[in-house]
Amino acid sequence: MNEPLVLGIETSCDETGVGIVRGHTLLADAVASSVDEHARFGGVVPEVASRAHLEAMVPTIERACETAGIRLHDVDAIAVTNGPGLAGALLVGVAAAKALALGLGKPIYGVNHLASHVAVDQLEHGPLPEPCIAMLVSGGHSSLLRVTDVTGHEGGVDPMGQTIDDAAGEAFDKVARLLGLPFPGGPHIDRAAREGDTVAIDFPRGLTSRRDLERHRFDFSFSGLKTAVARWVEAKERAGEPVPVNDVAASFQEAVCDVLVRKALDAAASEGIEDLLIGGGVAANSRLRHLAEERASKLGIRVRVPRPGLCTDNGAMVAALGSEMVARGRTPSSLDLPADSSLPVTEVLAG
Ligand code: KG4
Ligand code: ZN
Repeated sequence: MNEPLVLGIETSCDETGVGIVRGHTLLADAVASSVDEHARFGGVVPEVASRAHLEAMVPTIERACETAGIRLHDVDAIAVTNGPGLAGALLVGVAAAKALALGLGKPIYGVNHLASHVAVDQLEHGPLPEPCIAMLVSGGHSSLLRVTDVTGHEGGVDPMGQTIDDAAGEAFDKVARLLGLPFPGGPHIDRAAREGDTVAIDFPRGLTSRRDLERHRFDFSFSGLKTAVARWVEAKERAGEPVPVNDVAASFQEAVCDVLVRKALDAAASEGIEDLLIGGGVAANSRLRHLAEERASKLGIRVRVPRPGLCTDNGAMVAALGSEMVARGRTPSSLDLPADSSLPVTEVLAG
């Protein structure tokens, strides 16, 4: 019972997340999503997301406390995502966290959304393997990080590569739209792909040619793939032939997962690191999980992926990182910490 009780708030995109952890133990993970309000626009509308956070914040905090069986006064620290993400959405979470910290007289930790996607795994699989390679794949990001200290201490989160255009999740969402599948498209492509043939169509693998690897060994590119899928689908439609949705989904998904896994394992091998952690919404993808396991085991690399509910945005991940900040004695953030929509991944804890 000596471990810190931390409440974490996440509002960087369209999920209002409030999580409560004690040490590495998850006590509550309340999430209110505004995804349905964005569906008809085919993407998240920032202003709609901000308003939804405002409405959902207090009920979500109350629900989390109820589930955890605690009162707000019991909390030892407040953690909040202060970036990167949608500016207006982040502001709602940061303001709520400041109000709680001030009202309760507890320390506040402004933490990086991406590092939280890494830290969350300790709630499921125990202490993080450090060093590890973390691959974060979501609607907003695709990055490969070398993590020696998840709290960011002394360059503990070091970016090795990232997407040079679309994020992996963005590619899933755009291709789903082309195929007439609902938003967000990732889970729908995942499902359709199970009935399809992964080798039906030979879609391009971005930044894998020898020349590209010289400059972009650990970077990703998905916009060429998305265009290739669009062209292929258009050609079918022009010819008046039915579009084999399941085969397109399976072949597209294979192209994305193949490149992600290849580069992540290359990063691990190049650093002599034996643990790969995958996080972010796309880490919920069943093919990505399977392929990573299969190829990593041949190289003696261990793979850790949180369960799907912890991969997509939630408050538990923020609480998990906050709990690590407390456990490692990091200095809390100041009460005037800013929300920073383009916060670099290296800045894990706000000053
Ligand atoms: O981490 P997340 O919840 O929010 C961001 O920070 O972006 O990730 C959302 C993204 C969306 O693009 C969604 O389509 C994708 O994760 N996603 C998936 C799956 N589940 C969610 N992509 C592929 N396969 C899935 N099963
Ligand atoms: Zn995220």
